[in-house]
Amino acid sequence: MNRTLLVTSSPRGADSLSTRFAIQIAEGILGHSGGSLAVRDLAANPPPHIAPAYIEGRITSPEERTPEQIEAVKIAQELVDELKAADVIVLGSGMINFGPSSQLKAWFDHVTWPGITFSYGDTGPKGLLVGKNVYLVTAAGGVFSEGAWAPFDFQTNYLLHLLGFIGLTDVEVVRVEGTVLGPDALQAAIANTETAVKSLLAKVA
Ligand SMILES: Cc1cc2nc3c(=O)[nH]c(=O)nc-3n(C[C@H](O)[C@H](O)[C@H](O)COP(=O)(O)O)c2cc1C
Repeated sequence: MNRTLLVTSSPRGADSLSTRFAIQIAEGILGHSGGSLAVRDLAANPPPHIAPAYIEGRITSPEERTPEQIEAVKIAQELVDELKAADVIVLGSGMINFGPSSQLKAWFDHVTWPGITFSYGDTGPKGLLVGKNVYLVTAAGGVFSEGAWAPFDFQTNYLLHLLGFIGLTDVEVVRVEGTVLGPDALQAAIANTETAVKSLLAKVA
C-alpha cells in the first residue's frame, strides 16, 4: 500500500502556492494509486526551535533523560517516525528571505538525526531514509531556476541537499516562480505549475 506524507510549511496560509500545489500532488497520487495520506502542517503546528534539551537528550540513553529531554526527543521521534513510515513524501516550501521558512528549517533540525536518519561511515555521511519518492514544491517571489538570481537560491538547493543528506535522493522538483513579479507573472507561474503538476501526475498514473 502506498503511504503518502504531505508536509506543508509556508506561513502564507490560504494564499500559499507551494501548499496549494503540494496538496494537489498528494491528492493526485492518492487518486491514482490509492493508499493512505498523513498530513504534517508545519505552519499550523510548527516544531520548536531545537534547544539543549533536544541536543543533549538525543545523545543520552532513554532511561537517563530528564523530563525536558524526554519531551524534546519525543517531538523529533514523532516527526522521524512519520517520515520513515511514508513511501511517498510531498513537501511544500515557500521562499522566505532566500531560504525555506523557519518552520521547515526547524523540521529538518529535528529529522536530521545522526544514527537515526543518517550515519557517518568510512566513506563519509550516509543517508538512512532510502527507497522513498519525494515531490518537492518550491515557490518563490522571484525567478531562481535560471538568470541573475540563480546563485541566491538558498531554498531549492538547500532542501535538495538536506533531503539527500538523509537518504532522500529520488526527488522531483516543481517550481512556482515569479509569484511577486506582477499579476501577469503570477498567472504565468500558476499556469506553468498546473501544467507541470498535470504531467507529473500522468507519470504516476
Ligand atoms: C516574509 C517574506 C519573505 C520573502 N522573501 C522572499 C525572498 O527572499 N525572495 C523571493 O523571491 N521571494 C520572497 N518572498 C515571496 C515569497 O517567496 C512568495 O510569496 C512565494 O510565493 C511564497 O511561497 P508560498 O506561495 O508557498 O507561500 C517573501 C515573502 C514573504 C512573506
